[in-house]
Amino acid sequence: MTVTELKKAFVEIYGGSEDDLRVFSAAGRVNLIGEHIDYCGGKVFPAALNLRTTVVARKTNADVIRLAATTISDRVTLEINNLDAYRDLKWGDYQAGVAFVMKQSGYEIVGCDLLYDTTVPFGSGLSSSASIEVATGRTLAAFSAEKGGKGVDLIDLAVLGQKSENTYNGVNCGIMDQFASSLGKKDNAILLNCKTLEYDYVPLDLGDYALVIANCNKPRSLQDSKYNERRAECEEALTKLQTVIPNATCLADITPKQFNEVAGKVLSGKVYDRAKHVVEECARVIDSAEALKKGEIVKFGEYLNQSHYSLRDLYEVTGDYLDALSARSRETEGCIGSRMTGAGFGGCTVSIVKKDKVEEFIKTVDEKYFADMGVRASFYATSIENGAQEIFE
Ligand code: GLA
Repeated sequence: MTVTELKKAFVEIYGGSEDDLRVFSAAGRVNLIGEHIDYCGGKVFPAALNLRTTVVARKTNADVIRLAATTISDRVTLEINNLDAYRDLKWGDYQAGVAFVMKQSGYEIVGCDLLYDTTVPFGSGLSSSASIEVATGRTLAAFSAEKGGKGVDLIDLAVLGQKSENTYNGVNCGIMDQFASSLGKKDNAILLNCKTLEYDYVPLDLGDYALVIANCNKPRSLQDSKYNERRAECEEALTKLQTVIPNATCLADITPKQFNEVAGKVLSGKVYDRAKHVVEECARVIDSAEALKKGEIVKFGEYLNQSHYSLRDLYEVTGDYLDALSARSRETEGCIGSRMTGAGFGGCTVSIVKKDKVEEFIKTVDEKYFADMGVRASFYATSIENGAQEIFE
């Protein structure tokens, strides 16, 4: 929906006029490379997308936050003095979690009516949840500032978005998604150090190539529990590796060389494989960012392929659908790299494809993937945009 349509829809739901409405937006993201390493202190390389969550908002004098959405009929009322009580909501639990942790951390949470519109496909691995969290945080922070509470600080909003997802919604995610959703920059990827939260923008200049994002459309199942399981395996690996590398504070502190020298002494089986993925993926991010800075796009694409193979063979988070979609992409003319993006177990691939071959690429991959899996993929027209912002229209 356009902003004009959204304002109209808001007034139909909540009444009043359009004059006192404000509009905020936060991004979905694609992660170019650096998967399942944010919670191990690694560097990741995401970018904010034009797929977004938009919130139309009006401050009220009530002590409740009312929530509505354009795509679902649920209406939710959150009492500001009882924000801890909404963990089991089917929809609205992410907004409640953000308001709850913001209140705890010194923001003035004021009564408001909110209408949500999201174009980030749900369960796609493009961070629909983070975009809801950050859009909510951006909105509530703007109102908090007006009332003399804490104001808009994009890093704080990312950190609180992650905190609410961890502590309120029970998903032990890292910081990557909320950070990209909040701090993304048009036409740039963010090289984010998840241990220190230091970050650099790197222009996403792919020359003759374009990014193509495709959804394998496999319904995700058990994703959250498998995600939390992988995190636990990494923690186990770290504890064991610290007995032989005492100065390692996280898996990202360990180089592939160090790992190869000592890991066999303390790790075995799946835990060895998980840690090997993390250590090697951390190195791949640094190398691939260097390649991109130098304009070595073919090399960059090859790192994406290697990342996928490692997520498939060592980390085991890809699954048949993502494997088929990325393999069909990789073998199609014009494609120089393809991998799953996000948590995995379903969701999207990101591929790098020669600009003048994109149309043909989509047609070919679509047909072959459908023949393989009996499910149609979706392809999105994406661009790299800014993170969280107020929209003045
Ligand atoms: C999800 C999480 C992120 C990150 C990715 C995997 O998107 O929310 O924190 O761990 O999976 O890289």
